[in-house]
Amino acid sequence: MNAEKQQLAFLFPDDNDVPATLKLQPLEQRVFLDNGNLSEWKGEVTEVFSPVFTKINGLLKPLYLGSYPKMTAASVMEVLESARNAYDLGRGEWPTMRIKDRIGRLQQFLGLMKVQRETVVKWLMLEIGKNRTDSENEFDRTIDYIVDTIEAVKNLDRQGSDLELHQGIYAQIRRGPLGVVLCMAPYNYPLNETFATLIPALVMGNTVVFRPAKFGVLLIYPLLEAFRDSFPAGVINVIYGEGKETAGTLMESGKIDVLAFIGSSKTANIIKKQHPRPNRLRSVLGLDAKNPAIILGDADLNVAVSECLIGALAFNGQRCTALKIIFVHRSICDEFLKLFCRKVDALKVGMPWENVSITPLPEPDKPAYIQSLIDDAISQGANIMNEGGGQQFKSLVNPTVLYPVKHSMRIYHEEQFGPVVPVLAFDSIEEPVNYIVESNFGQQVSIFSNNADEIASLVDPLVNQVCRVNINTKSQRGPDIYPFNGRKDSAEGTLSVTDALRVFSIRTMVATRNNESNRALFTEILEGRKSNFLSTDFLL
Ligand code: G3H
Repeated sequence: MNAEKQQLAFLFPDDNDVPATLKLQPLEQRVFLDNGNLSEWKGEVTEVFSPVFTKINGLLKPLYLGSYPKMTAASVMEVLESARNAYDLGRGEWPTMRIKDRIGRLQQFLGLMKVQRETVVKWLMLEIGKNRTDSENEFDRTIDYIVDTIEAVKNLDRQGSDLELHQGIYAQIRRGPLGVVLCMAPYNYPLNETFATLIPALVMGNTVVFRPAKFGVLLIYPLLEAFRDSFPAGVINVIYGEGKETAGTLMESGKIDVLAFIGSSKTANIIKKQHPRPNRLRSVLGLDAKNPAIILGDADLNVAVSECLIGALAFNGQRCTALKIIFVHRSICDEFLKLFCRKVDALKVGMPWENVSITPLPEPDKPAYIQSLIDDAISQGANIMNEGGGQQFKSLVNPTVLYPVKHSMRIYHEEQFGPVVPVLAFDSIEEPVNYIVESNFGQQVSIFSNNADEIASLVDPLVNQVCRVNINTKSQRGPDIYPFNGRKDSAEGTLSVTDALRVFSIRTMVATRNNESNRALFTEILEGRKSNFLSTDFLL
């Protein structure tokens, strides 16, 4: 082992040095949530290991965290039936319930969820290696998302609370649910990104089958009882298991109405194609991205360096919104690299509870993948520019800056989703602009400059290539009230607190010809408060 590797190896703690509060008993989860019950699972299970290794008698081993059900095709189909029965072709208690009452159930869930903050945060640190601050932020951001969603639903309901009259036809127009939603989330935000689809789907009256991410599974367990106790039976169901047996089986049944998936476009395409009736399927997808930073010659280098640092390397670069390639004007490229590499090397590497920046990676094959990208770039003339670059040991991968990167290298095209930062120098702005035009991705870009004319001349064409142009600011999803989407292979549909309510619902209306008898009929329904839909109640 070379000296650098040894240094990384020393960062893994002795088993006795893991903080006592994080030495959780392994969670042998043997339940899944089906039709309002925590049903016992008696079949095979999947074991969960942390990306954190500890030393026991001098030997490094990944922490064992527990296990969860490996459900079979037959068992997930039973759960799907629960969700379908609760929806009952739109006639169930939940899809026909007044919004006010659905909000009440969500508020009950919110209260129960808040109590689980510390437990969920601990599982986030242990299961996916997210540091404490970011884990707490993920939890708190999710709570805020639910609170904001409640306000947005009220707003939406108020907009549908009056009757319109056009060309002799009265109409009440509201938004109605779509059916049964299959929710699947990514491992990098196993709580927040799940809830960013699950909560709006539920509150709009859909029923849900939710399969947790590939990592970050046990952290859902503390919320199962809250789900069970807050919503009517079958409205929210949670399944566990491998993709083919779970998502594949459900999609092949043709009984899923909405696919809410955040992950790779490759997987999304496979899952979507499994549905036999594509016209009946609505997809809400957050997919791949390779957001570039473009640093112009007159940029404030300190701003560009610090934004690119967190933009590229927060949570080890495992964010779909991360800056994944940096174009720097040749006139300032040397200076940028010097300042940037200094900051990259100053990032602390360690365990999630030590609140460092660089933490163990949860995907076991990710370090080898990152190494293969580095090897490929080096074999084609790139150099590792920072002192600590190119080093890895087990799940710890030091951040690596590669320069000069060119078109023929894999890192130029592939979404690394890890701590490696490719940098290119450009002479003409056409070079980064062409990169964006030719790319399969179309999520965001960050431009760094203080020249109003230059920025304006880039903003106008780039807003039609991506969906968010950040000026002197890293790319990111939040604030969650803003639209989060993408062009090309980066997304389908728009998520934000308000947009998500729309994507999980459809406009539907009741109409009648304006004559005396129809007016009397509507008045009787409205005044007698006989319908939950045809209603002028104003939600405060
Ligand atoms: O991984 C994709 C996330 O939605 C990114 O969210 O920009 O807030 O980290 P973020």
